[in-house]
Amino acid sequence: MMPNNKSISEAMLDCYQVSKNFGGLQALSDVNLRVKEGTVHSLIGPNGAGKSTLLNVITGMIVPTHGSVVFDGKPLGNVSPHEINQLGMAKVFQTPAIFPEMSLLQNVCIPALAARDGAFKLNMFDRGEGDPIESFAEETLAEVGLQEVMHSEARFLSRGDKRRLELAICIAHRPKLLLLDEPTAGMARHETESTIELLRKISKSGMTMVIVEHDMNVVFALSDIISVLAQGSIIAEGNPDDVKGNPKVIEAYLGEEQE
Ligand SMILES: Nc1ncnc2c1ncn2[C@@H]1O[C@H](COP(=O)(O)OP(=O)(O)OP(=O)(O)O)[C@@H](O)[C@H]1O
Ligand SMILES: [Mg+2]
Repeated sequence: MMPNNKSISEAMLDCYQVSKNFGGLQALSDVNLRVKEGTVHSLIGPNGAGKSTLLNVITGMIVPTHGSVVFDGKPLGNVSPHEINQLGMAKVFQTPAIFPEMSLLQNVCIPALAARDGAFKLNMFDRGEGDPIESFAEETLAEVGLQEVMHSEARFLSRGDKRRLELAICIAHRPKLLLLDEPTAGMARHETESTIELLRKISKSGMTMVIVEHDMNVVFALSDIISVLAQGSIIAEGNPDDVKGNPKVIEAYLGEEQE
């Protein structure tokens, strides 16, 4: 049998020579990034290195000046962010994008319904009793540890739990690739620890992840592969041990934290 494109490359995501200029500023220059299926791939680097810009290019929010992105075997040139999401890519935003006046269950049902029925047919309040989407949403909330409060309004959640809810919303339609930009920023230590556990569990379910993160405890605890960006270029890549010992990385980034 002929292998399909994906099994040839084994890549969930490929960025080829991606560059992005903002006026005179080169935020990304010739970035090549390959994310293998089923891995947790972290992107680290100093402030302003271009990490968020790269995530935005991947999700289609920013059009690169040069280069291309291939997701799950499909080139994404001219594909809209919405279509990219429908293809199975989701991004967790730093500020939770939730509906504060709705229950947790409704918050999770909305994207699950949109994925099943299409956004235009979406009608939250006029569904038959016992719609399987609801038990599916319950399971997703259980996965992130919020099942017990699923009928509360989202606005009553703590900041950490709002982030969990957003994660539930993002994984409700089982994306193939989940992108996270600083998932533990602003969290207390115990919240960071439980986020690590949760992300590890989601990763074990087979979801491929790209994580941008400054907290090295999180990066080293979760990553299979780490790519280091500095001034818009990838300066190193490897497993956590390779990256920890790389003098270029220590100079560009880790050194900052150790001094
Ligand atoms: N929309 C924009 N317009 C102009 N410049 C931008 C824009 N977005 C980002 N930049 C610039 O591009 C560079 C890369 O920014 P980016 O946000 O990607 O960095 P980052 O690695 O995510 O940094 P941080 O760790 O602080 O989040 C920075 O110099 C930033 O000021
Ligand atoms: Mg950023």
